[in-house]
Amino acid sequence: MSERPRILTGDTPTGKLHLGHWVGSVKRRVELQDSHDCFFIIANMHAFTTRSDKPGEIREDTLGIVRDLVAMGVDPERSAIFLQSEVPAIAELTFLFAMLLPYNRVMRNPTLKDEIKVKNLGDTYSFGFPLYAVGQTADILAFRPVGVPVGEDQVPHLELTREVARRFNQMYCGVGDKVEDDHHVAEGGVFPVPRADVGRVGRLVGIDGDNKMSKSLNNAVFISDTAKQVQKKINKIYTGRQSPTEPGDPNNVLMQYCEIFIPDADRVAEIKDQYARGADIGDGHIKQELGAAINEMLEPMRERRAGIEGDDATVIDILKSGTSRANAIAEETLEMAKEASGLGYFKRRLDLG
Ligand code: TRP
Repeated sequence: MSERPRILTGDTPTGKLHLGHWVGSVKRRVELQDSHDCFFIIANMHAFTTRSDKPGEIREDTLGIVRDLVAMGVDPERSAIFLQSEVPAIAELTFLFAMLLPYNRVMRNPTLKDEIKVKNLGDTYSFGFPLYAVGQTADILAFRPVGVPVGEDQVPHLELTREVARRFNQMYCGVGDKVEDDHHVAEGGVFPVPRADVGRVGRLVGIDGDNKMSKSLNNAVFISDTAKQVQKKINKIYTGRQSPTEPGDPNNVLMQYCEIFIPDADRVAEIKDQYARGADIGDGHIKQELGAAINEMLEPMRERRAGIEGDDATVIDILKSGTSRANAIAEETLEMAKEASGLGYFKRRLDLG
C-alpha cells in the first residue's frame, strides 16, 4: 500500500447496515478511498461484550457487514476490510492503554452509559463491556490515523481515544503538555491525535420519527431491503397530517428524509414549501417520490451485492487480504509503542498470513 494519510473506522457486527450507517459514515468512507489509505474494522470481539452466548449470529453478522460494505461501494482492492479478532496488536495495545485511563473516566463515557440504559444491562454487564471502550481506542490508534469517520454517537469514544494518544505521547515520548493536538507526531509522539469526522447527517432518525435509526428499534431501512420493502417502510412513516391541504411540519421525519435522500435541492425546496403551506401535496405522493429516490440510490448497491451474495469463500478472502494489510500497520505501531514505553526488549515477527 502507498503512503497516503490513513483513516480507520468500522462497525460492530450487530446486524445489517441501514440508511443511518450510509449517511452517517459509509458514504464518507467511500469518498475517502480516493485520497486515503482506508482501514475498516469489523469489531467482532466487541459483539461478544453483550452477545457472548450467540457466536453463530456474530459470525453471520460479520460476513453480512462485509457484503453490505462492498455493496455500498467500499472497494476491497483499495481498502482493507479486516477482522478485529485477527489483529493481535489491538488486544495488546488495549491492555497497555487500559493502564493510561482512570477507571472512573472510562465509566463516565456517555455512550457506554447510554448503552447500559438502552440495552437494559443494569449492573450485570460483563467486565468486557466497559473494556470495549478502551479497546476502541486501540482499534483506532493501532493505525495511527489522521481521522475517524463516524456517526455522532461515537464522538465520546473519539474523545477517549484522543486522551489516550495525548497521554501516551506525553508520558513516553517526551511530548510537552502544551503541544497542540496537530503537532504531537512532529514533536516525537507515536500517535497522532485523531479527529472525529462526523458525516453530513450525524444522526438519522428512524421511520418511527422518534428514535435514532437502529435495527433493535424496528425503525430501520436496510441497505439490503428490496425495492418493495423500502417503499413499504417509507409508506409507514407517520406524520399525523389529515389532508393534503393541511399545513405540515417542514421539519418532521418525512421532510428530513426528503432533504437527505432526494438529490435535487430545488425539488426538495418546492416540496417543503408546498407541504408547509398545505398547498395540496399529499403525504402519499411525497412518500412515493421519496421511496423512488431511495431506491434509485440503492439500486447500484443491489447490483454490487449480487456479485458476492451467498458466497462465503469470497467474503472470507476479502477479510483475509484486508486483515493481512491491517496487521502490517498494526504490528509496526505496536513495535513503536513498545519501544517508547520501555517494552522494546527485542523485535518479534509473527506469521500473520
Ligand atoms: N463502536 C462502533 C460501533 O458500535 C464500532 C467500532 C469499533 C469502531 N471500533 C471502532 C468505530 C473504531 C470507529 C473506530 O459502531
